[in-house]
Parts: sequence; C-alpha cells; structure tokens
Amino acid sequence: MDQGDRTLLSSSFGAAAVAYAEHRPDYARTAVRWALKSAPGLRVLDLGAGTGKLTAALVALGADVVAVEPDPAMLTELRRALPAVRALPGSAEAIPLPDGAVDAVLAGNALHWFDMAVAGPEMARVLAPGGVLAGLWNVMDDGVEWVAGLARVSGSAAIGPRDTPTGWRAEAAGMHLPGTGTAALFGSPEQAEFPHGQRRTADSLVATLATRAGMLVMPEPEREATLGRIRAYLASRPETADAEFTLPMQTCVLRTRRS
Ligand SMILES: C[S@@+](CC[C@H](N)C(=O)[O-])C[C@H]1O[C@@H](n2cnc3c(N)ncnc32)[C@H](O)[C@@H]1O
Repeated sequence: MDQGDRTLLSSSFGAAAVAYAEHRPDYARTAVRWALKSAPGLRVLDLGAGTGKLTAALVALGADVVAVEPDPAMLTELRRALPAVRALPGSAEAIPLPDGAVDAVLAGNALHWFDMAVAGPEMARVLAPGGVLAGLWNVMDDGVEWVAGLARVSGSAAIGPRDTPTGWRAEAAGMHLPGTGTAALFGSPEQAEFPHGQRRTADSLVATLATRAGMLVMPEPEREATLGRIRAYLASRPETADAEFTLPMQTCVLRTRRS
C-alpha cells in the first residue's frame, strides 16, 4: 500500500462515524486485561480511539483513560458516548500529552495506520518507564466454515488478510514495534488471542462490514454490488438467514514494554 492509499483509508472513518459507533464490535475483556497486565499503573492512553469502543472497556476496568483521535467526527461520537472521558484531538505522530504521562498506550484496530517511524518514539515519550504499548485487533474466526465463505464472498475490502486469525498472525510476526530503527525503545513483543463474539443479524452484519475502511472508500456502484453479494450470501446460509446469531471472533493482542 502506498502512502496515498494509506492516508485515504486511515482518514475514511469519520464519514461513517455514527454507523461505526452503532455497528463495530467492542473488545474481549480478557484481551484488554492481558494488554494491561504488566503496566506499572492504570493511566491509559487510548490512541486512535475512534468512537470509544476500546475506551469504554478501559473505563469499565477502572482505568484512568485519556482518548486521542484525529478525526473530528469520530471524536464527536466518542464525546457523546463517554462524556466523562478526557478526549483530545491528536494523532499517534503528535500526541498531545507530556513526557511519561501514562502507564500504557493501547490502540484498538488502529496501530496499523500509524507511521511507526514517527509514532514509535512519540509513544515511547508519553509512556512512563516500564509502560506497556499494546495493539488490539478484532478479527473474524474463519476457522468456522460459514465465516470462511463470507470472507471469500466479501473480498478483501470488507474482510482483509489482517481480519482473520491466520492473516493477523502473519502480519503481527512482521510488525516491528515501534518501527525500524527505534526498536531499542521497546522490548520483544508478545502475542495472544482471546475468543470473542458479536451478536448480529444479517442486516447488522452487512452494516458492520460497510464501515470497513476499504468499503468506505469504494466507488458507490462497486460498494453496492459488494454489499449485495454479502446480503445474498448471508440470506443463503442457515446460520445467518433468519435469526440473530453470534459472529465468531477473536481479539488479538500484540504487547510490548517500554525499555
Ligand atoms: C478502525 S478505527 C478504530 C477506532 C477505535 N480504536 C475502535 O477500536 O473502534 C481506526 C481509528 O484510527 C484513527 N487513526 C487513523 N490514523 C491515525 C493516526 N495516525 N493516529 C491516531 N489515530 C489514527 C482513525 O481516525 C480511526 O478512528
């Protein structure tokens, strides 16, 4: 992916902020706990916080959270949903916090958008010594046959390689935290995966997939055709055609510590 595509995709979410807040999943609590386990305290930065999906889980665990998000529409949704949380405009490359301000930096489905060569030292700057940096990703469990079929029908704009456990493992193995040349700022990364699920209907799953970055930047005719294929597939499957079902997911975590 070149820098132009990356910028287009990473800034696509605001156009669908309300739908994002309604339809995207939260994170497995066990995964969030694991991410924070070795942090020296509970001052947590949720970076690329979006509409506050991960922020809400952190608040529920008793963390003292500050949310940072570059997209104004996403930030508005976060402030509406979580008015008591300190929420600031900013990015991973320019974090509006002083040095050593937090014990953990977490990023939910966002770390892959950061320019790590700049964001790595910036995240290290705001972390206290021994602080934790963790990326969390919700992926769809394509070990389940109907989910594998859905991934085939949807195409990579809706369910990309990183959105399944196998694809995520491959990407995580090659992901340098926090980026080439600055690795000494952090220790060796660890990975873990936690079972998760989201109650959906066929319609609400279509709505969820419509908020994926690749779908948001797609030309309208192609987007309609893709969503139509997904609708037809879900209507054809006994697991999803009629009633509410649980979309089988995993929350995958990549965690490291500030040296
Ligand atoms: C897929 S959304 C995830 C939002 C939220 N963390 C969640 O779990 O639902 C990715 C978010 O990363 C934000 N983002 C993109 N580039 C970023 C950057 N360079 N620094 C910080 N956030 C960024 C986007 O604006 C978007 O809100």
